[in-house]
Amino acid sequence: MRKIRIFDTTLRDGEQSPGVSLNPQEKLEIAKQLAQLNVDVIEAGFPIASPGDAEGVKLIAQQIKGPAICALARCKEKDIEVAGEALKHAERPLIHVFLATSDIHLQHKLHLTREEALEEAVRAVKKARNYTDEVEFSAEDATRSDWEYLSQIYAAVIKAGATVLNIPDTVGYTIPEEMKELIIYLLEHTPGMDKVEISVHCHNDLGLATANSLAAISAGATQIECTINGIGERAGNAALEEIAMALHVRKDRFQARTSLNLQEIYRTSRLVSRLTGMLVQPNKAIVGQNAFAHEAGIHQDGVLKDKLTYEIMDAQLIGREERVLVLGKHSGRHAFAKKLEELGYQLSEEELNQAFQRFKQLADQKKEITEADLKAIVSDEVSRSEDIYRLDFVHVCSGNNILPTATVRLIREGGEILEGVSTGVGPVDAAYKAISKMLDISPNLVNYTLQSITGGTEALGEVIVRIIGEDQEYVGRGSNQDVVVASVLAYLAAINRMAQKKKKINPQKDYKEN
Ligand code: KIV
Ligand code: ZN
Repeated sequence: MRKIRIFDTTLRDGEQSPGVSLNPQEKLEIAKQLAQLNVDVIEAGFPIASPGDAEGVKLIAQQIKGPAICALARCKEKDIEVAGEALKHAERPLIHVFLATSDIHLQHKLHLTREEALEEAVRAVKKARNYTDEVEFSAEDATRSDWEYLSQIYAAVIKAGATVLNIPDTVGYTIPEEMKELIIYLLEHTPGMDKVEISVHCHNDLGLATANSLAAISAGATQIECTINGIGERAGNAALEEIAMALHVRKDRFQARTSLNLQEIYRTSRLVSRLTGMLVQPNKAIVGQNAFAHEAGIHQDGVLKDKLTYEIMDAQLIGREERVLVLGKHSGRHAFAKKLEELGYQLSEEELNQAFQRFKQLADQKKEITEADLKAIVSDEVSRSEDIYRLDFVHVCSGNNILPTATVRLIREGGEILEGVSTGVGPVDAAYKAISKMLDISPNLVNYTLQSITGGTEALGEVIVRIIGEDQEYVGRGSNQDVVVASVLAYLAAINRMAQKKKKINPQKDYKEN
């Protein structure tokens, strides 16, 4: 079976999803999970785009071993130098340079002739090779480019030292048959193409990203660029989990395999959803909540008789089956710590103590604690360790015939107590207004979602909010059995991120004084 390289671009193209902004620590957390998933390449960012991006790439390059770590650069000297610098400590560094090749982009965006673009691409690849042994060249908007010219530019960059040729369907325009024909054409007409990795990068504007990527594999592509949950610019990119499972379930047709650790797919999907604040639609293939749920009576009957009747893959294979923990309210701290270790968490003493306390509270109220519950608790505690404001208590008074009122008490870093009271259209609105009033801030709440982590009325509720403050968007997440408390925790998490950012810029002053 042929090996297909999985190039994950969740941290670069995925992070370009509208409203998504990850800080370097969050990027590192995702990169660690991508390494567990065993992707071949992690595209960690676009270092020239912002200092935060450069810092994220650097951190990942320093700490992640195993997958190649890639940084994106335009075909500009400065971009390549900054990318090379960010990758300095990577075990397997890879610079990815890109330049548009379609006439639409050349004429209207870059104002370059085809010849000038070809020279620029060659110069860039040669320069990038001074920093890394592996260099990828992407012909942006390849699928709307002239095929003959595309072949010329690919041949030229191979000669200049490119080791990976990427064929991006930048605007999600192509269809599977055309993608297949294009790759066959390029393989036939481009000297040296059979000696390098042939990659595709498909966007999902017509909902064809996965189909186009699979067609490319059938035609000879050796690398697929994709993202977890299919996030990315506009309608997103090809979803890693769909490619992985299509190759696995239909190996009879593709005769191709990946090196992915399939068991880690679901965990990675949940992590990316939580940190980006992008919920996965319930009917999303492989990782959606309903992807393995059978509703129709005939289907349920069939599955009970034999799973094979309506299931083409096993939920356990991608790590979806949430095991009920052996832990319960009588479990000790040691057993709890050991379980976290098994799940791949490394917590500080303080974080462990906090998480253990919350586990005990939950175990008192909920009969069965799942791994999902545990992950929610732990991620709350880890993300709170640098908080400037902590929730002491929230009291609400609400009902169908009463003006909803909330009293909130926060403890600021250093121990100062802050209290606020407000009314609102509901208890969550009242609590949010109380917090904004006491901190003298007025962020704009642009998104609020509530979902239950497991089933049942006693389940943990998970709230994700997005706020805009100081011209930037911040995501916050909180979980609790009480949805008002979960809502307050999520709001506070977003405010803390805003405050941390401000503190970083001006560390002497506290947030409110700025
Ligand atoms: O969609 C695209 O063309 C890209 C390139 C930078 C590969 O993201
Ligand atoms: Zn893209």
